[in-house]
Amino acid sequence: MHISIDQAIDKLKAGHVVAMPTETVYGLAASLNTPAAVAEIFRLKGRPLNNPLIIHVASQADVLKYAQELPPLFEALTQAFWPGPLTLIVPIQPHLVPALARADLPTAGFRMPNHDLALQVIREVGPLVMPSANLSGKPSSTRAEHVECDFGPDFPVLDGGACAKGLESTILYYDSPRWVIVRLGALSAELFEPVLGYHPDSVKAFRHAQPLCPGQLFRHYAPKAKLILGNGMEIEKADFVLGFKERLYPSSKRVLLMGSLNDPDPVAENLYQILRQLDQEDAKVAWVDMDFSREGLWETIAERLLRAGEGQ
Ligand code: TXA
Ligand code: MG
Repeated sequence: MHISIDQAIDKLKAGHVVAMPTETVYGLAASLNTPAAVAEIFRLKGRPLNNPLIIHVASQADVLKYAQELPPLFEALTQAFWPGPLTLIVPIQPHLVPALARADLPTAGFRMPNHDLALQVIREVGPLVMPSANLSGKPSSTRAEHVECDFGPDFPVLDGGACAKGLESTILYYDSPRWVIVRLGALSAELFEPVLGYHPDSVKAFRHAQPLCPGQLFRHYAPKAKLILGNGMEIEKADFVLGFKERLYPSSKRVLLMGSLNDPDPVAENLYQILRQLDQEDAKVAWVDMDFSREGLWETIAERLLRAGEGQ
């Protein structure tokens, strides 16, 4: 059910959950200070309670109200990338941030989205927790119809059209003395070099006693179809191919084009739409052309496809 921005604001203020767009993916929003709505988000998504939520703010100053101490270069990072697809994990003052939202961690992730509708709503309602608006484990929603597919036609959605980026925010964590990437996303690692003075490493969440990004431990982005990732010998077994427009694939297969090998931006924008299309077309086995660059945003695209194919 599509709702207006005023209805979204009213519902959030009244302690309800609504879906709304950001520049990365659609989010399921609740006001940070309405515990029942925050709990409802976990229930709706089927999300484990040990997987914390990102707090979405309308300015850097909003973070200062909750933070304990800001890690070095926090301000330089927000100045360079906010509003935008960057989430920064920061130590907080525990009594100011409900434990449920941060899964009892001493930190919270903050992001200022680069989307007019989202920013208007946050300015009216205050900080919002917003996980991606999909059932846990499924591809994120990049269009209002994806949200309705997961949560039903009556679920309230503020429709902002297709998301410009199509991939979630990149998440940075300060692991003294360096910032590290705990989730690759719409910003690629090299973009941080001019601000940080070094190339931030990607760390695997499970290598730490306390996971740096709990969400990375769970299954993600997966369609119902089995994905075969880029082994040429195995294309025979597939009924679908996810490929690129410059390449030729066997004509007996249903080919879904992810885009062009020359431009990762539209590939990112369409990725979850195509994974969801496999389900709509009842695909059983899809072969994915993984023969592409790993530079820049392609690295995130490859990671999402690998995660989507894991554990099937
Ligand atoms: O682009 C995005 O980030 C989207 C849009 C809606 O803003 N949101 C999003 O939220 O992707 P979600 O909940 O699907 O993913 C948030 C990730 C999870 O993997 C979670 O474990 C991690 O952020 N996270 C949140 N708070 C954290 C914290 N305090 N410490 C470590 N990881 C945290
Ligand atoms: Mg998610």
